[in-house]
Amino acid sequence: MAFSPRFLDEIKDRNDIVELISRYVALKRAGSNMSGLCPFHSEKTPSFTVFPKTRSYYCFGCGAGGDAVSFVMQLEGLSYRDAVEYLANRAGLQMEEDGERKRDEVRRDRVVAATTEAARFFHKALVSPSGAAAAEYLKNRGLSPLTVRRFGIGYAPDSWDALSKHLSAAGFTPKELEAAFLCRTGKNGKLYDVFRNRVLFPLIDVNGNVLGFSARRLNEADERKYVNTSDTPAFKKSKFVFGLNIAKSSEEDSLIMCEGCMDAVALHQAGFTNAVATLGTAITSEQARLIARHVNTVYLCYDSDGAGKNATMKGIKLLNEVGVGAKILDLGDVKDPDEYIKRFGADAFRRVIKGSTGQMDYRLKEIADKFNMALPEERLRAFELMCSYAATLDGRAEREICSSRIAAMCEVSMTAATESVEHKRSIGQRRVKKEETGKQMQDALGFGDRVNRDRVKLPAAVMIEERILGILLTKPELYREIADKLSEDSFVTEFSKKVFLLYKEDFENGRESVLSKDGALTGEELSRVAGMQAARQAVNDNGLDTLKSCISALEREKLKTDYDADIAERGIAALEEYIAKLKKKKTEG
Ligand code: UTP
Ligand code: MN
Repeated sequence: MAFSPRFLDEIKDRNDIVELISRYVALKRAGSNMSGLCPFHSEKTPSFTVFPKTRSYYCFGCGAGGDAVSFVMQLEGLSYRDAVEYLANRAGLQMEEDGERKRDEVRRDRVVAATTEAARFFHKALVSPSGAAAAEYLKNRGLSPLTVRRFGIGYAPDSWDALSKHLSAAGFTPKELEAAFLCRTGKNGKLYDVFRNRVLFPLIDVNGNVLGFSARRLNEADERKYVNTSDTPAFKKSKFVFGLNIAKSSEEDSLIMCEGCMDAVALHQAGFTNAVATLGTAITSEQARLIARHVNTVYLCYDSDGAGKNATMKGIKLLNEVGVGAKILDLGDVKDPDEYIKRFGADAFRRVIKGSTGQMDYRLKEIADKFNMALPEERLRAFELMCSYAATLDGRAEREICSSRIAAMCEVSMTAATESVEHKRSIGQRRVKKEETGKQMQDALGFGDRVNRDRVKLPAAVMIEERILGILLTKPELYREIADKLSEDSFVTEFSKKVFLLYKEDFENGRESVLSKDGALTGEELSRVAGMQAARQAVNDNGLDTLKSCISALEREKLKTDYDADIAERGIAALEEYIAKLKKKKTEG
């Protein structure tokens, strides 16, 4: 039975792993993860951890691990297929047909090809005579020709079928063009264009594929200001971050998150190359996870109206869940960053960033705004709420700073604030005995490994292989960078090779891996793979550098094990060859 990766991915997106597991296990925040008492073995201190970032769980005590599907299998005692169905139902998703993908489904690569060709067509149209008015519009909005080129901005002609004709002539079928959200079939049976007389911002993913468009009207009389590509076989709005393809190579370890493409582009032109945008919506958990792979801080720059405030609060929460810090930019009365830059310039915006409020101040102010702080009894209620919030902060220093802010805002002594915060924190807090967990983990990984039988014989190789797989399973896009250096033959142990082959297609597509793949791994094997991911999440280094050095280390291990086998057979001749090979490797670099 084979479900498509797309379907399994959708299932895991719609069943939030934290929410799912919370129904069975009481979870508490632990850094960017959640932890609780393991439901699979009996313990008194929590070693069971849920990782929102990779949608997985792992118990450092007993080594059980996996994803939403395996969790349901293990806990509800369901078969693989039934677990998938259970989760699909829970999320209100239609169960996918078993077996191959539906015959009439349009292929993703055809959609990408059509959209890429459309982007070329639109960009050409912008610089042609018919695009003069659109070019003038962009110029009036302050965009330079360089910016227009860099973002591949285009123009959809004021015609019903210019694009339809062009793409049909290029060999795309009506069905493909409809699936790509580029054309529709009219009542008369003829194809017509979705985007007409609009300026287009191509939506390009981190791998450089054009997946869709955000299209702004030129004629103010048109009903909709923006028309965005809705979900297609290649594009999902809730997973997409505009500008990340460019921002990811910015020097900054932060992103500036705006509401629309126009803002991100304007900021970029003003020198803020780390500007990105969602398409008019609040950040989703999927976007948060994507962001977490690239930066540690996000400056939120949403409208200051009610909807914008909600979007900000939601954004903070989701970003924190994946370990990204959020800061809030206050533009005062100005509508958006684009307008701000135009009115006050880049330096002023830089000062806004410098003066940005951390989420702590933002949260406290949110609470204070709900009360009349001039009245003592209202102040006291605000005080209680603020202290409850402060108690959730993990760092001691952080709690202390927050307490001092609370003291000032509520006009109480610092001691009273600190005491209240620490008291609230100690209630229900379970102490984690680290040593105990560490020992259990060693036991779990130790001798008599039934999953990777080569562990006792080749402990170093296994360790390196697990690190490599852990990185790739967490950051699949890195595979492209090392694809020429790593293949199934690079692996020394059979189990690692099997895991690599199983996930290779996902790595190649820069796709986040679905751990439970059509039941290809046993429960124990799956747990091990989840463990590799879990171990990876404990470190915060440059994945690519580590990956590269692990690959070199594995190469050496491989040489050594090959040699061990060889020398047993051929003796001294093999030894001489081995030394020659090592020397050659050394001079090569
Ligand atoms: P705004 O109305 O704030 O537009 O919508 P904007 O980004 O400032 O655009 P300009 O400056 O007028 O050109 C914010 C975002 O909401 C989405 C778009 O993605 C837009 O960028 N939106 C807005 C729509 O999808 N449809 C609409 O009709 C309006
Ligand atoms: Mn605007």
